[in-house]
Amino acid sequence: MNQSTRDGFTSNFGVLVATLGSAVGLGNIWKFPYLTGANGGAGFLLVYLLATLLVGLPLLMVETTLGRAARANAVTTFERIAPPNQRGWKIIGWMGFTAALLIMAFYTSVAGWVFAYIFKAFSGEIATTDPKIAGSAFGKLVSNPVSSLLWQWLVLALTGSIIMLGVSKGIEAVARKLMPLLFGLLLILCVRSLTLPGATEGLKFLFSPDFAKITPEVILTALGLAFFKLSIGMGCMLTYGSYFRAEQNIPATTTRVMFADLSVSLLAGIAIFPAVFAFGFAPAAGPSLVFMTIPAVFTSMPGGSLFMTIFFVLTAVASIGAMLSLLEVPVAVLTERYKLSRKRASLMTIGTILLLGVPAALSQSITAELKIFGMNPFDLFDFLSSNVLLPLGGILICLFVGWVYGLPQLEEQLGNRGKLGNEKLVQLVFVLVRFVAPLSIAIVLLHGLKII
Ligand code: PFF
Repeated sequence: MNQSTRDGFTSNFGVLVATLGSAVGLGNIWKFPYLTGANGGAGFLLVYLLATLLVGLPLLMVETTLGRAARANAVTTFERIAPPNQRGWKIIGWMGFTAALLIMAFYTSVAGWVFAYIFKAFSGEIATTDPKIAGSAFGKLVSNPVSSLLWQWLVLALTGSIIMLGVSKGIEAVARKLMPLLFGLLLILCVRSLTLPGATEGLKFLFSPDFAKITPEVILTALGLAFFKLSIGMGCMLTYGSYFRAEQNIPATTTRVMFADLSVSLLAGIAIFPAVFAFGFAPAAGPSLVFMTIPAVFTSMPGGSLFMTIFFVLTAVASIGAMLSLLEVPVAVLTERYKLSRKRASLMTIGTILLLGVPAALSQSITAELKIFGMNPFDLFDFLSSNVLLPLGGILICLFVGWVYGLPQLEEQLGNRGKLGNEKLVQLVFVLVRFVAPLSIAIVLLHGLKII
């Protein structure tokens, strides 16, 4: 695609909101609480925070930088900026392409549950604080193969149509409007949850670490979550970076994105865990945790059904922002490398996800016993993407920037050619991506996968 006609984000604020729109999604509202609950609480949170600061933020900075420097999709970027004899780095882009499809396969399934819960909330069907009733309402939804598939397909049709509209019109317009609302509603939920009798037990679970619970697997899961949360390690933020404005202050923007994303997750955690203990839910319930606990908190406050409906609408919108960014990875590769129209590229991508999505959506029913490495298709896709492909992509991006791209170019790009005067900061980022991040990811990956 010609540089001057390439689509892009149109303002400083637009960049921030769209990038945040990719980061904030089901990862905050669904995955963060359920993984924190299943992995022992505060210890997991601590490792996740460390991974976000030491690995996540630096990677977010260098990924968006590479994209902006090359102004291209995840694959072509490496062809453009790697030395001529090292074009093989584009494998990073292809791994990201694969990861995007795998993530979408299960993400659309969860988004489907959220869409279904909008109607359940409205009808009053899930207005209960009883763990048994909440559990059976959720079970009824996910164990029905027909409704699981139909909701997933609805989600795919919706996001597919938005992505066809293009970057600035589609993504920016949707993301811009609804983020602040979600934040506000989460705050209200926190207040309610914290004033429930027995709330302190939940806070202790979330903030008082038991170091014995931090095993190599827990650390790998926390690292995988850090990647998944910030949409890094797979060329998604690289693709978004390619739409950034030339004068964008990348370190400032990415730091804001990281803190805002973290606050949404923490708010979700503070809304959920006090209620988990107050009502007697199991913190380690797994993927169903949020779908049972959030309705319970709403049910225990006035006007609950209305707020609950709005909450699931906003969560659905947040999930759309994230899904659009996931779709953008393959769509940008297909349009720019194979000269497909945006419509064609979107249809091909959606078609592939539709096929991959079937076994994932049926993982609570027909394919529940289809175990590969002991996991059903839903869990397998999640594990392979978050805990394998993303960290591996992260290592490769770090090695590329730290040992091939080099400090002078990074300084030029992250400092907007000396205009930002942030050399010290860039040097710190460089040390992190050259040594600290790749080494720590490698150790965690090898230990977590029981290779060493
Ligand atoms: N960051 C999104 C979330 O937390 O919901 C998920 C995601 C989006 C992961 C885009 C990866 C990605 F490339």
